[in-house]
Amino acid sequence: MARALGAPKFACTQTHPAASGRQRGAMDRIRIVGGERLTGTIPISGAKNATLPLMIASMLTEDTLILDNVPHLADVGLLQRILGNHGVDIMIAGKRPGENGDKGRTLHISAKRIVDTTAPYELVSRMRASFWVVAPLVARMGEAKVSMPGGCAIGTRPVDLLIMALEKLGTDIEIEGGYVIARAKKGLRGGEFKFPKVTVSGTHTAIMAAALARGTTVIENAAREPEIGDVADCLNKMGAKISGAGTSRIVIEGVDKLHGARHSVLPDRIETGTYAFAVAMTGGNVLLQNARPELLQAGLDVLERTGTTVTPTNEGIRIARNGAGLAPVDVTTAPFPGFPTDLQAQLMALMTRAKGTSHITETIFENRFMHVQELVRLGARIQLDGQTATVEGVARLKGAPVMATDLRASVSLVIAGLAAEGETTINRVYHLDRGFERLEDKLSACGAAIERISD
Ligand code: EPU
Repeated sequence: MARALGAPKFACTQTHPAASGRQRGAMDRIRIVGGERLTGTIPISGAKNATLPLMIASMLTEDTLILDNVPHLADVGLLQRILGNHGVDIMIAGKRPGENGDKGRTLHISAKRIVDTTAPYELVSRMRASFWVVAPLVARMGEAKVSMPGGCAIGTRPVDLLIMALEKLGTDIEIEGGYVIARAKKGLRGGEFKFPKVTVSGTHTAIMAAALARGTTVIENAAREPEIGDVADCLNKMGAKISGAGTSRIVIEGVDKLHGARHSVLPDRIETGTYAFAVAMTGGNVLLQNARPELLQAGLDVLERTGTTVTPTNEGIRIARNGAGLAPVDVTTAPFPGFPTDLQAQLMALMTRAKGTSHITETIFENRFMHVQELVRLGARIQLDGQTATVEGVARLKGAPVMATDLRASVSLVIAGLAAEGETTINRVYHLDRGFERLEDKLSACGAAIERISD
């Protein structure tokens, strides 16, 4: 089928298209002809949601932070530009002859001189996570003026808990003209506090700020996501004294200064889950190379309940499904170690083909159902009632043009398209490029009929 599309088949070892001169445009589309089983190996990239805070954490030191296994993503490039605005210099190590595109890239990040402590609206509104620069700026420079990010497609996403954490660490906060103005002229001081709700952004911010605060900080009800642990590991290599990351109680002994270090980004558990669900959808047998099961146990458990075989191996995780139909599952999203909200859309795509009815409840973001109407356009039967979607499995999906307004919703349409009869075109591919490295190359190398169309 890939041949029918006239799509070039890229080996998993192909260099990144951008590196090989093929342009990735904002208006690119992805075209899929459904029905092919996936067989082969998919290399899992470094995690987007660890890379972004790690890049931001580099601002805590004058020395160079070297990050390995960095995924080649639009969000990484955008954050590079945003940090450049503050004076952060990022050198991307070139590929050596013989190296392939699967290894991830190496960034040498130097925040020797912070030239600007303001993060303007034009930049922060393009990437919410860039708001987190407030923490290293106030910790190292004693001041920051950072635009409030505003709402986004998946919900209102306030920053009140990040502000609360900074205040508990001795920051004076004013909000003026849409900007958070944070000041701690005499430096931050440790504090003890409990987040009223689990927040990844709040926990990252608190850890970064507390690393350079005077005295001890205790964070209760901290987020336990693996990316928090990865950032804490890196900060500890830089000389921070953080213990308990990965549990709900994190203790940080502040230090005067951090130094340079080298750290390899952990594998992306959401990319892992996405391809695992894609294999469950199409049937087949794929090794998700470098994937680590402990980062995604709840997602893998759900997959096994659908009748898919999940086998951890020395190299990663093998996912296989043969002829058997998919069993429906009832799933509620929750903070780690629960089922991740970032896989909710992908699970829903899978359940559109289950033999029976499933219920999927979203508890993290109030508006994370934009994929529902698009899946319905492909023939899915889904009813929304508040935060719960009831999905009645159908025998077949039929290809159609679709689009989505966020990253995970877009990739759920790819999963549906892989199983739909005929042709599915996914518009607004720039959402996918924010968080999935070489998606079409990785899938087509395993037999999918998928190609990128650039006009
Ligand atoms: N929240 C508040 N106040 C705050 C902060 C958060 O009410 O001050 C609320 C949010 O509105 C949300 C909930 O708390 O309802 C959880 O938000 P959290 O802070 O945990 O999320 P985040 O840090 O903004 C990260 C990921 C998201 C992922 C969530 C949940 C990054 C860059 N983003 O967002 O990833 O969905 O944690 O796991 O790490 C994605 O990759 O597609 C994505 C959206």
